Amino acid sequence: MSTHFIRKKQIVEKILFEQNRVPVKAQGKAFCPSNIALCKYWGKRDSVLNLPWTSSLSISLGDKGAKTTVALNPNSQSDEIRLNGQWLSMETDFSKRLSAYLDLFREPSGLYFTIKTEVSIPVAAGLASSACGFAALVVALADFFGWCVSKEKLSILARMGSGSAARSLWHGFVKWEKGEDEEGLDSFAKPIDVAWPEFRVGLLVLTKAPKLIGSTEAMNGTVESSPWYKHWPSLVDNHLKLLLSALNKKDFEILGSVAENNALSMHALMQTAMPPIVYHQPETIALMHQIWHLRQKEQIPVYFTQDAGPNLKLLFLAKDEKTIVDHFPEIDLVKPF
Ligand code: PMV
Repeated sequence: MSTHFIRKKQIVEKILFEQNRVPVKAQGKAFCPSNIALCKYWGKRDSVLNLPWTSSLSISLGDKGAKTTVALNPNSQSDEIRLNGQWLSMETDFSKRLSAYLDLFREPSGLYFTIKTEVSIPVAAGLASSACGFAALVVALADFFGWCVSKEKLSILARMGSGSAARSLWHGFVKWEKGEDEEGLDSFAKPIDVAWPEFRVGLLVLTKAPKLIGSTEAMNGTVESSPWYKHWPSLVDNHLKLLLSALNKKDFEILGSVAENNALSMHALMQTAMPPIVYHQPETIALMHQIWHLRQKEQIPVYFTQDAGPNLKLLFLAKDEKTIVDHFPEIDLVKPF
């Protein structure tokens, strides 16, 4: 057993202490929304447990996410995984990552699982498919085994699969507290009590190609080699304060401009890593100019954010929906509330 596995397993044991370890039903089920960070998580203080250097804040994507079922795979010595209707080879990186995560929950030993997942956004194109995927897997496991644990604790378990999954346990605006604890027992997300029915997110998929470099490798590279990383935590503290206050006042222009600046700052940081990490494609930059043009020349309050991929997500309000759809007919519109 690797030391990484042992560290994760110790946390799982603390969280599931005295919980049921045999299934209570034939199938566990869950849906979790995907989420997009308005203030990004970029950099791990512990890359085994996915503990972040900073807190982060996101908006969940309503009915866009992962629907997962978990059952036993009784006749086999391995898990089986069906993603969007297709059985996956257990040799793909994706299957290996999922199976290694499931190793944490094979009690009594020898349990193997059949996992079926339908994901309603492109997988691994920087559209947060791992966030909703791991969150839905954990909630489906909780349903399958009948665990009586809080959503905060499930958020810790999901975080160990993928950091941003910690935030996908809830709808609406969600804040993930970085925590101070070495084992990360205080590093989980919580919902923010603000409903904003007019808030819109638009997904603009420029390419569905898988990302060139995974977020963990990119984060670690940035933390280790960007000369500017030391400024990131104080910038994030400032952005979080501004975003929370904008949410309370429903001040969309502040919210949008801080979220956009946060994403640009994160990408600027990673571009100064050695070797540099650049997720932009030429289409990404062209779109940014189009959005700035709309804002500056046509006074449309539309902002963007960008994750570990070339695609942009637009932020705007219901009153501008028609104009946005006219300008970007291919947009995938999300109503988070
Ligand atoms: O959870 P991960 O390891 O896929 O990292 C997510 C990183 C960003 O999407 C770029 C930022 C975030 O906070 O979601």
